[in-house]
Amino acid sequence: MGTRDTDWEGVRLHVVTGKGGTGKTTVAGALALALASGGKKVLLMEVEGRQGIAQLFDVPPLPYAERKIAVAPTSLAEHPGDVFALVADPESALIEYLEMFYSMKLAGAALTRLGVFDFATTIAPGLRDVLLTGKAAEAVRRKGGGGRAYDAVVMDAPPTGRIGRFLNVSTEISGLAKVGPIRGHADTVQNVIRSPQTVVHFVTLLEEMPVQETLDGIAELRALGGIRAGAIMINMTRSLPLPASQLQAAADGQLDPDLIAVGLKAAGLDDSGQLAAELAAELAGQAKTTLGQQEQRDRLAEAGQPCYDLPWISDGMDLAGLYRLAAALRTQGAA
Ligand SMILES: Nc1ncnc2c1ncn2[C@@H]1O[C@H](COP(=O)(O)OP(=O)(O)OP(=O)(O)O)[C@@H](O)[C@H]1O
Ligand SMILES: [Mg+2]
Repeated sequence: MGTRDTDWEGVRLHVVTGKGGTGKTTVAGALALALASGGKKVLLMEVEGRQGIAQLFDVPPLPYAERKIAVAPTSLAEHPGDVFALVADPESALIEYLEMFYSMKLAGAALTRLGVFDFATTIAPGLRDVLLTGKAAEAVRRKGGGGRAYDAVVMDAPPTGRIGRFLNVSTEISGLAKVGPIRGHADTVQNVIRSPQTVVHFVTLLEEMPVQETLDGIAELRALGGIRAGAIMINMTRSLPLPASQLQAAADGQLDPDLIAVGLKAAGLDDSGQLAAELAAELAGQAKTTLGQQEQRDRLAEAGQPCYDLPWISDGMDLAGLYRLAAALRTQGAA
């Protein structure tokens, strides 16, 4: 297959944020798989040191090293792609940076014991974050094999409440370290983050709180200027098999239990009427939830960003579920 048009042509760093527990790690993994389809190489990066990616892909805990963890889904006409993973921690990133910049050979453990890292982060509190974003920027820019080392980098990023500071930190560092290598490094990182190559996606559920955090997060990025909001990834969506015309009636409790009883009988379930009454009540509850979700959808739409639906995986999240989410993202044009 040739190239397909996706919503994120030219984007090479995908930052995935959202309210805690909404599925950032899961969606970042699915997006990495989706982007790797068709023979691409994608790096999936974790920055909070919780081994969420290893758990998600069902592999042993990952070190500070880039490891291939999955092969992308592929149609017969396509080449398979590869997803690599990296668990980045600021201490390792600092040692790597010092070794690279000063051509120093440092024994990581000794350096840490000497407290260089503590010292560095004390004089420059934002350094922790810039080391992590710096690692992502380095992977985005890295050359390899006559081209780019990676076609895309996906970052499982800090939650919405911290994302602005996390991504904007290089500016603070730049102010602190006015000259020298740190300044140069911070500027390079900002150039990647504030370029059209980088977008920030928001994972949300169709509930009041995560939707509010998403809208606040997008507004915060806009206020910072230059950092682009990407898609809104609506996770764990479920659809009620009721036509829109009956949804309101169901929510208002106007479903006729007698009709449900007839339906049950047709399905081979004999019922005294109690089951039908319970089903009607259950349906009314679900219809109310669905109507409430539509309201949240409308609020999200006002942000003006592309929205994708990721289905609720009812039988528990596993690799098969993850590939289903990746397929959903591809179908909707995310990759
Ligand atoms: N589409 C889905 N269907 C079913 N379960 C899901 C789906 N997406 C995520 N989950 C489950 O929800 C839980 C939270 O997901 P995940 O760990 O990805 O969230 P997170 O935002 O990264 O959380 P944290 O803020 O703790 O890092 C996990 O148990 C995950 O398996
Ligand atoms: Mg997570």
